[in-house]
Amino acid sequence: MTIIETIHKRQSWRTFLPKQLEPEKTGLLRDFMSLNTRSVFGSVVRCELMDFKVTPVNLLKTLGAYSVIKDAKVFMAGCVKNSEKCLEDFGYIMEKNVLKAVELGFATCWLGASSNRNGFSEMMKCAPDEIVPAVSPVGYAAEKRRLADSLMRKVANSDTRKHLFEISFRGDFYDSRVPENKYKTVLECVKLAPSATNQQPWRFLRETDGDIFHLFLERTKDYTYKAGQNIDMGIAMAHFELAANELGLKGSWTQDKPDVDAGDREYVATWKP
Ligand SMILES: Cc1cc2nc3c(=O)[nH]c(=O)nc-3n(C[C@H](O)[C@H](O)[C@H](O)COP(=O)(O)O)c2cc1C
Repeated sequence: MTIIETIHKRQSWRTFLPKQLEPEKTGLLRDFMSLNTRSVFGSVVRCELMDFKVTPVNLLKTLGAYSVIKDAKVFMAGCVKNSEKCLEDFGYIMEKNVLKAVELGFATCWLGASSNRNGFSEMMKCAPDEIVPAVSPVGYAAEKRRLADSLMRKVANSDTRKHLFEISFRGDFYDSRVPENKYKTVLECVKLAPSATNQQPWRFLRETDGDIFHLFLERTKDYTYKAGQNIDMGIAMAHFELAANELGLKGSWTQDKPDVDAGDREYVATWKP
């Protein structure tokens, strides 16, 4: 499966089959996770795959996440030192692991932690300055979503996405414009990314000349889960980079804040070919 196909296939899943995962497959995922360590802003993100005998309901409650997961026994958790842009780095690394899990045939669901200290941070033996911002179940999707899962998708409006012209601009934020080259496919892949309650806070400002893209965070008004939107930006960077690389568009993330009127939008990073 190509990475673009994997990005199209991924959907949050909250109802699992109570089936053992093959050690060969979880081994492949663990191998990938151990090599996936290069972050954008230099944070060290440590991810682990944890096996439980039954769904760790009480442990999941310590996250304060907004969902109930059924019949998943394996969880992916990540831990990062609490520092500037650590949440973006966390999102970037963890989403690459999530996509690898999907490629291997597993279903996943980001579960954001509302508190920095939770049961998973204890299990991962996090230092006092380390946090576990989110976890995800990893397992086989049940044939059908149960009612609570379908309702969750309805509430978060998970089956809809913003139009590309709502997230893509050229030159300044007054000119909403969709690229007419391969970067259109790249932005389509960002659009399919998971985001906290599907708010899709990513905005791309393309320079007038060439394919330099500045990524901004447009926060949802009165949204209390602020950390989630920082994680969303890292996830968006992972989708952008993976899709661009697969399409042969070489480039990397750097810091080069443009001199534009961005309003309340927060600058995150710049993609430079
Ligand atoms: C940072 C983050 C936190 C999330 N937290 C939760 C959560 O606590 N509970 C949940 O059911 N889904 C959670 N989600 C999943 C989103 O609701 C989901 O990605 C969004 O609705 C889009 O649906 P999709 O992933 O199926 O494309 C989270 C996603 C992200 C990126």
